[in-house]
Amino acid sequence: MTSPAHVAIIMDGNGRWAKARGLPRVAGHRAGVEALRKTVRAAPQLGISYLTVYAFSSENWSRPKSEVSDLMGLLKLFIRRDLAELHQNGVRVRVVGDKASLQTDIRGLLEEAETLTANNDALTLVIAFNYGGRDEIVRTAQKLALAAVRGEISIDSISTESFAASLDTAGIPDPELVIRTSGELRLSNFLLWQAAYSELVFLPCYWPDFSQDHLADALRDFAGRERRFGGLAPREAAS
Ligand code: IPE
Ligand code: IPE
Ligand code: MG
Repeated sequence: MTSPAHVAIIMDGNGRWAKARGLPRVAGHRAGVEALRKTVRAAPQLGISYLTVYAFSSENWSRPKSEVSDLMGLLKLFIRRDLAELHQNGVRVRVVGDKASLQTDIRGLLEEAETLTANNDALTLVIAFNYGGRDEIVRTAQKLALAAVRGEISIDSISTESFAASLDTAGIPDPELVIRTSGELRLSNFLLWQAAYSELVFLPCYWPDFSQDHLADALRDFAGRERRFGGLAPREAAS
């Protein structure tokens, strides 16, 4: 079975999971962190080298202040509680998103996680936090425009390859597979550049209910897909 090297997940449905149980939304987010832990543990065994998770979008700031603060608190707790285990298991942590506009304590924790685990290679866990695909593309365009104005690069040298190498995800291969839980059928500003040719799998289950079996099923689904990248399937190309 062809396993994707990079799986990206839109972890959606925490609020509805909680509501269905008569619990506050934060209980859903807490259960979501548990599902994330299990998924990180399962990924290397399933042949995954890169796992990207959408944890907080650049649009999630529009939620009530108390929920935003719950989500920030849970990220901090996750790093504090899980960093040692992640490191012990050889997990490299990378963070994508606009780090510059985060609170300094959160930024510090994220940077600590990235530095501590920089040489690990069992799995790269990419946390998309304060992340928006459009925001990432605009920040990248600004970076390249500045370099051009300073004469450090020529306009002609800007290519799809050099652009990709300046994104937050520089050095990370594009995800072959993007999974979204909770039944919503959209990308919600996730990896707009990188998911250009990703296979998409939408699952009805809410994120806190996501298990290793769901992941294995999604990988099986992926293995049966025919990826053409704008060309022809090998069998058609040969005839
Ligand atoms: C996903 O769950 C987690 C984040 C967006 C941070 P939601 O909080 O979006 O849950 P629903 O979609 O309201 O059920
Ligand atoms: C996407 O989910 C963001 C994350 C999972 C972090 P949302 O719940 O924010 O997306 P919409 O609002 O349903 O599009
Ligand atoms: Mg949602």
